[in-house]
Amino acid sequence: MTDLSKFKQRIIVTGGAGFIGANYLLYMISKYPEYLFVNVDCLTYAGNLKSLEPIETTPNYKFEKVDIRDFKGLKEAFDKYKPTGVVHLAAESHVDRSIIGPSDFINTNIVGTFNLLELSRSIDDSLFRFHHISTDEVFGSLGKDGYFNEDSPYQPNSPYSATKAASDHLVRSYHKTYGLDTVTTNCSNNYGPHQFPEKLIPLMIRNAIETKPLPVYGDGKHIRDWLFVEDHCKALDLVFHKGKAGETYNIGGSNEIENIELVKMICSIIDEKLGSKNREKLITFVEDRPGHDRRYAIDASKIKDELGWQPEHEFEAGLRITIEWYLENKNWLDTCINGEYLKYYNKVYKNR
Ligand code: NAD
Ligand code: DAU
Repeated sequence: MTDLSKFKQRIIVTGGAGFIGANYLLYMISKYPEYLFVNVDCLTYAGNLKSLEPIETTPNYKFEKVDIRDFKGLKEAFDKYKPTGVVHLAAESHVDRSIIGPSDFINTNIVGTFNLLELSRSIDDSLFRFHHISTDEVFGSLGKDGYFNEDSPYQPNSPYSATKAASDHLVRSYHKTYGLDTVTTNCSNNYGPHQFPEKLIPLMIRNAIETKPLPVYGDGKHIRDWLFVEDHCKALDLVFHKGKAGETYNIGGSNEIENIELVKMICSIIDEKLGSKNREKLITFVEDRPGHDRRYAIDASKIKDELGWQPEHEFEAGLRITIEWYLENKNWLDTCINGEYLKYYNKVYKNR
């Protein structure tokens, strides 16, 4: 039995075995030894407890295998740990998967968030805060100019972003209607260690290491605003502790790059590290993603001005750290490449 009274805060972190969740827990657990962190994750294909091996026996860490779609299971976790906060990262997160089959996205991202909000609103603790982690994709697509800010209209274009938009609105409504203390963050594309190799950067790193084709969608001129995951985690820490109740904060790296340029950078760093094979030759333009958003770019002045946040990693340096991590952690990568992954890969890429 965990002595809950020993801990100044007890925080349920949903999706802690995923990419951002694991990086967040690795960062927060050593920074806040006086807090208990309870990782609530049902371990979908994207959850990997291997990422959390360095902290699995730490006294302020607990893991509960619970599906946020299962209200009863979630209630048991809430009753057991009496949380003073929820940091909600669990989600189906990959746009291409949401195009193949949106159903899990509806159930996890919308119904799962609803379950967490329902349990949270019954907690009678003035300290309690619900931090909802969301995405800039809820704002849709930008043209050549302009940036997303906290007042940008919601225009989600994929089933994934539509479910994240729905969950953002639910969180907003629980603050306005029930007075629940909530904060929401909308972040741009993250990259770094522990990211599942379905997302652009780790997929290209893996394929480039193995000299496999590098599938670039459409003309490759789509733009994303990349942020190193540790910089995102530091922003989440700040918003959870200092953000204003009911507010939303946009987070981004001010680091726009076209996909094609990014893939070329990956090729050149891997050529340099593994010996040149002119990996750029592996780039293959393939059929575009349906509804593909052209450009994302974040105006992060609110979190910078109000909470003093600044990203610390320059893009090429962060990309080098990431590539080195994948080269040094081949075992981690191998755990992702199973039958399910190969089936998914064939479905998305075979007939493009
Ligand atoms: P991920 O796909 O790597 O990890 C998701 C985690 O949630 C996994 O551990 C998975 O097992 C868990 N999970 C999924 N469904 C669950 C369920 N029903 N019950 C319990 N656990 C479940 O995702 P990520 O990239 O780490 O993203 C985390 C959050 O951040 C998501 O909400 C995502 O929308 C948001 N976000 C991601 C990015 C990005 O670039 N990756 C950017 C902005 C916002
Ligand atoms: O903006 C934040 C979002 O970033 C998060 O909310 C999502 O969870 C996360 O998955 C990410 O969404 P994207 O769709 O932008 O990321 P993805 O890595 O899938 O794709 C990045 C860009 O690269 C996008 O323009 C599509 C393109 N792409 C992607 C893959 C997987 C390719 O050209 N080829 C590929 O094989």
